[in-house]
Amino acid sequence: MSARGAVFIATSLDGFIAREDGRIDWLLQANEAVPPGEDCGYAAFMATVDAIVMGRATFEQVLAFADWPYGTTPLMVWSRRLQALPAGLPPTVSLHAGSATELAAHAAQHGHGRLYVDGGRTIQAFLAAHLIDEPTITVIPILLGRGRPLFGGMGPDVHLTHLSTQAWPFGFVQNRYAVAAPA
Ligand SMILES: NC(=O)c1ccc[n+]([C@@H]2O[C@H](COP(=O)([O-])OP(=O)(O)OC[C@H]3O[C@@H](n4cnc5c(N)ncnc54)[C@H](OP(=O)(O)O)[C@@H]3O)[C@@H](O)[C@H]2O)c1
Repeated sequence: MSARGAVFIATSLDGFIAREDGRIDWLLQANEAVPPGEDCGYAAFMATVDAIVMGRATFEQVLAFADWPYGTTPLMVWSRRLQALPAGLPPTVSLHAGSATELAAHAAQHGHGRLYVDGGRTIQAFLAAHLIDEPTITVIPILLGRGRPLFGGMGPDVHLTHLSTQAWPFGFVQNRYAVAAPA
């Protein structure tokens, strides 16, 4: 029994999720054009997941936020390097090493069937392990030229089926896909 992963992430038009140093200033700036009350489907997506798997690099960015953004949703931090979590985090946060397959099995054992998988290298590893079903990718109208890619280095081709596209007047284009079963 294994949990399955979903992705909800924003990229630049050239496919980056962050600058090389991890900054997402371009995304925060783009969000300033989003009207109040518009979340581009984030709350609806979050309502469908049981837990979050987050790569250590993304987690470190989250630690800099003023408020804890995930409520009571369990958050599994994925790291080989971290020996312990920082003090003061909600009890819903846990630390995990092991493979993507092991982590998905662990999540399922704890009743978490659908995971929000977040962080570029983390998404790539879960995709390579055939654990991602549904990527939702919101394309921000900016070219960064360089940065941390959402995809790359995954081995064999990954085929997807397009499910839907939504475009907003402020320039965001959101594409939903289903990952096809490996041949
Ligand atoms: N645009 C967006 O919507 C969006 C969304 C999320 C994140 N971001 C940004 O993306 C950046 C982070 O993405 P990223 O691709 O650099 O990294 P990431 O996926 O967040 O984290 C990578 C880390 O995950 C751990 N990891 C990866 N594979 C592992 C494995 N097989 N076993 C155990 N641990 C493993 C490793 O931690 P250790 O090195 O500790 O072992 C690795 O360094 C941040 O700047 C964040 O702000 C942007």
